[in-house]
Amino acid sequence: MRKKVTVIGAGNVGASCAVRIADKQLADVTLIDIVEGVPQGKALDILEACPMEASDVQVVGTNDYEDTANSDLVVMTAGFPRKPGMSRDDLLLKNASIVKSCIGSAVKYSPNAILIIVSNPLDAMCHVAYETSGFSRNRVIGMAGVLDTARFRTFLAQAAGVSVENVVAMVLGGHGDTMVPLVRYTSVAGIPVDQILPREQLDAIIQRTRDGGAEIVGHLKTGSAYYAPSSSVVEMVGAILKDKRKVLPCAARLEGEYGRNGIFVGVPCKLGAHGLEHVYEVELDSGEMAALDASADAVEELVSVLVQNGY
Ligand code: NAI
Ligand code: 2OP
Repeated sequence: MRKKVTVIGAGNVGASCAVRIADKQLADVTLIDIVEGVPQGKALDILEACPMEASDVQVVGTNDYEDTANSDLVVMTAGFPRKPGMSRDDLLLKNASIVKSCIGSAVKYSPNAILIIVSNPLDAMCHVAYETSGFSRNRVIGMAGVLDTARFRTFLAQAAGVSVENVVAMVLGGHGDTMVPLVRYTSVAGIPVDQILPREQLDAIIQRTRDGGAEIVGHLKTGSAYYAPSSSVVEMVGAILKDKRKVLPCAARLEGEYGRNGIFVGVPCKLGAHGLEHVYEVELDSGEMAALDASADAVEELVSVLVQNGY
């Protein structure tokens, strides 16, 4: 029997996730949105592309959570994207209420699902999903590190003039201005990247990576990125549904790792059939640890605002 994935939010990221999951024939997809007609229309359109994609999955659009019942995986993309001049944090309380209501409804019908959270501000929305679902940490995982790392890899590959496939990189921390691209854990086919590119160029690429979301918002003006974000989500979906035990940077709830407790932050995670199967604690020098601490502090600040507001 095929697996079932529910994608909440049929906007740019959600619909793109549905397309990629269907095209890769990873699972049947249920696309749900609050707006009537949009998930139905987009789902039918995606389904009608399946003959060309040689995919036999089913794709259904709905406004009713009953149709999402017994999903193996739920991808949460509903919420407002940012506009030029806005930070991801400006979305905090509006999106918290959306995440709470959508996740509450989804887990009622899919109590055994694994949740992948995408809505921003990402790490804080993972906290809302975790508290709302009552799931253990292995079943609530945030998507951000795969995207931030993909941006870092893209810029490094362009600068070094090599294939993106050769660049293995690591970006830790929260999904925001304080994210922590780790040069020491980044290589080109195993060659440390600082032996290939000069420090000033690496620093410029690190800054561009941190500003990667804003760079796209600046071009689009009416919303934020969705092609690379949906690819990043589907990388995680594939790792889980195919039990690949793939190590990817994801937002995970730390339980003592990196000296933190009860907070979601981007760290290297092993993803497999049980969702989050391991958090790797990599050795950090004092500068890297200070940067990760500052990033985790920024997430903690947002979570404290959520807690004050009853989340
Ligand atoms: P969008 O505006 O294109 O789509 C959002 C969809 O959510 C809309 O279709 C809207 O009708 C729906 N929605 C709103 N309230 C809802 C509710 N209560 N129930 C069901 N559906 C509801 O936005 P886009 O570009 O798809 O982005 C979605 C979210 O993902 C944003 O918060 C954005 O910031 C975030 N994002 C996060 C990334 C990450 O790396 N974690 C990357 C890209 C986007
Ligand atoms: C991004 O980084 C908006 O968080 C989203 O593109």
